[in-house]
Amino acid sequence: MGQKRVLSGVQPTGSLHLGNYLGALRTWVSEQYEYENYFFIADLHAITVPHDPKVLAENTYTLAALYLACGLDINHTTIFVQSQISAHAELAWLFNCITPLNWLQRMIQFKEKAIKQGEDVSIGLLDYPVLQAADILLYQADLVPVGEDQKQHLELTRDIAARFNFQFGKPKAPVLKIPEPLIRPEGARVMSLTDGTKKMSKSDPSEQSRINLLDTPENIKKKIKRCKTDLKRGLTFDDPERPECQNLLTLYMLLSGQSKSAVAAECAEMGWGQFKPLLTETTIEALRPIQEKYRDLTEDRSYIKAILQQGREQAEGVAQQTLQAAKDALGFARE
Ligand code: TYM
Repeated sequence: MGQKRVLSGVQPTGSLHLGNYLGALRTWVSEQYEYENYFFIADLHAITVPHDPKVLAENTYTLAALYLACGLDINHTTIFVQSQISAHAELAWLFNCITPLNWLQRMIQFKEKAIKQGEDVSIGLLDYPVLQAADILLYQADLVPVGEDQKQHLELTRDIAARFNFQFGKPKAPVLKIPEPLIRPEGARVMSLTDGTKKMSKSDPSEQSRINLLDTPENIKKKIKRCKTDLKRGLTFDDPERPECQNLLTLYMLLSGQSKSAVAAECAEMGWGQFKPLLTETTIEALRPIQEKYRDLTEDRSYIKAILQQGREQAEGVAQQTLQAAKDALGFARE
């Protein structure tokens, strides 16, 4: 049996933060040698809310450099840009025609984002999860490593695949592979620094709410100093009344690479005044190698472009094969 195939992506909007890193990229990197990997930059998804054309390409290259800086190894992963492979948009159209509208109207992310957009909400935003299904199913992925917030989109992807196979496939020869989400319990939902009940998000208007992978040490220090805490002494995991404590201890645990029990023992008697400098130092040290590698990589734009070009060539063959199989199943005339 060949290696299982992994696929995932991030939108090139705003800066990558600790939630993106701990929820998704960290897993991509740590598991990359076990799988055949496809990681892409979801720029078609980035235009589902109003965007600035002047920065889209720049953000795309920045994100590609960050993928590498976080530790993706180009000898084991294919990295590409979604909009450069037209099969994504084409398969999304085919899926549009078999996906019931009410499946999309139920999506939590759509509802949350649509409220912010008001009257201007686009069809693209509603259709966003169908494009995501196309991204995944085109590559016949087995596993999709994502944060907890993508779980519903993954369930929809599975539903679309099953419906397509049922309506247009042969019982023993399904056209599309049904993928599994890969959501690690720890880090799957990193919370905001200003409110431990809200997830850390690129679209939060407050910069203070998140730590970005490219934040300077001074900035990290300031953000952690000001982050929301509580009035209790002694720091403990799993107290539902202390969401900030849970979040900050989890960040410390993941960034220091320690076990939960070691962190629980170390911090049991601590107050915030003692813990915050510890978390600050740990965060700065964990991000330092990523930031250094990122700086080296951004010196040579042509290197990043060459990697994306190579990724495009590798990905395109796989994508075209599935697209053709889907078109054949739907009965289109072949040239
Ligand atoms: P995006 O760009 O919003 O987020 C990228 C990844 O980061 C995870 N994530 C988090 N994990 C833990 N805590 C948080 N606070 C947090 N915030 C974000 C997300 O779950 C995600 O894994 N729709 C996707 C992009 C996409 C995609 C795909 C992903 C498009 N097509 C196909 C997988 C497969 C998105 O918006 O991610």
